[in-house]
Amino acid sequence: MDVRSLLVLGAQYGDEGKGKIVDLLVERARVGTVVRFNGGANAGHTIVLEDGRFALHQVPSGILHPEVMNLIGAGVALDPLRLVEELRDLRRRGVECTNLRVSDRAHLVMPWHHVLDGHLGGRLGTTARGIGPCYEDRAARCGLRVGDLVDARGRVDLKHFAARVREVGTAKNLMLTRQYGLDPLDLDEILTACTEAAQVFAPQVADISELLEERNRAGHRVLYEGAQGALLDVDWGTYPYVTSSSCSLGGCAVGVGLNPAPEMRMGVLKAYATRVGEGPFPGELGDPERVKQHDARPAGSPLPQMTSAQREAALAGDQEAMGRWLRLAGAEFGTTTGRPRRTGWLDMVAVRHAVQVSGLNALALTKLDVLDGIPTLKMAVAYEIHGERTTRMPSRVRDLGVARPVYEELPGWSCLGGATRFEDLPPQAQVFVQRVAELAGAPVRVLSVGGRRSQSLMLPEDLCGAPTSPP
Ligand code: IMP
Repeated sequence: MDVRSLLVLGAQYGDEGKGKIVDLLVERARVGTVVRFNGGANAGHTIVLEDGRFALHQVPSGILHPEVMNLIGAGVALDPLRLVEELRDLRRRGVECTNLRVSDRAHLVMPWHHVLDGHLGGRLGTTARGIGPCYEDRAARCGLRVGDLVDARGRVDLKHFAARVREVGTAKNLMLTRQYGLDPLDLDEILTACTEAAQVFAPQVADISELLEERNRAGHRVLYEGAQGALLDVDWGTYPYVTSSSCSLGGCAVGVGLNPAPEMRMGVLKAYATRVGEGPFPGELGDPERVKQHDARPAGSPLPQMTSAQREAALAGDQEAMGRWLRLAGAEFGTTTGRPRRTGWLDMVAVRHAVQVSGLNALALTKLDVLDGIPTLKMAVAYEIHGERTTRMPSRVRDLGVARPVYEELPGWSCLGGATRFEDLPPQAQVFVQRVAELAGAPVRVLSVGGRRSQSLMLPEDLCGAPTSPP
């Protein structure tokens, strides 16, 4: 793959498998720099190697390649305590992370953001990682940034940071106690925890925009890594059931501080749809409340198996059973929270919206193998809203909430096997992939047929590319 710069972002509701695709492209496109541009510890990017699984949250997904520079951009909501935990975990497993730099302009997620998110985020089903309140403070111009904690010489700036923690923390404590009736936070404890954490990464704090420009000039290929997905974008997603950052091309420019102009703009999508948290989800299989009750399981516990009775029910048309099939076959439980994900058929109206908003010119289709054994597959090609058919994503959630997907049915396949070339896939799977490209209006360049690095196929542009007009 011969491109100088690439953007990789989610084309659905997050959890599309971006970590795996970034890790793969770093190798195949000979990328020298990976920059994460939005989100924070609400993300969970998973990479599966022969010797284990890595779940990354704030650290960019190129970190497993020691020769690649990994940058945390200014658009990231950086949680210093969780960053240090993540770095410790990685170091324990032999990943030194000396190839990581952190933007001095990134906003800090502080303990009061966690408390506020935990208290107020429930109605939106947030990850309770403090992301929304942190971005709120950024916009309100009272946020603390990495540069408040670490000075330009890479040293912890205790005096300045202590003053800022007192100033902002005192106001937050008033808010917690008077407005919400919660306990105040101990500002001394916060100060100690944050400055101890900062000792770990202070020498790695840098001006990311400048570093990126230098590396660009030196000819390094850059990969811009987005978190969450287009339908969770604060402006172009299903507002207000969204995250608080821009997960699209625009967010990339804001988050890295350099005209990114990525040559390849790749949207990652799964062969079906999932969503976590609250919000409309056209074509959802099963009732979200029942999913929460019946499929909740502690993070990291072994996955239950589908019983043969459940399989039969799914094949006989039971929507909830089909939803569970996708959830269990696809291990659809949050990397960050362990929450069961809501599931549905692939929604090409949503994907086309993502293609349009970010000008995507390539797709990576993941988890095709999860559809193995389902005799008839469905793909939403339009919505019916109040009796009218549309192929556009409505801006109002009250319209999206009543949207009825118009499905196209495609024949399924029994097993993808160990295909290493597109031509080796069962013909039905080839048709499925081609239809995705046609409906999206962008070629599928990467196909993932299993969790491991080796289970990804790179496709030439002309193989799955001919866009046609939407139905
Ligand atoms: P927040 O980003 O924690 O504020 O959560 C806002 C919404 O975005 C909730 O519905 C979350 O479930 C969802 N969300 C945030 N991050 C991710 C992610 O990485 N994958 C999927 N959903 C996410």
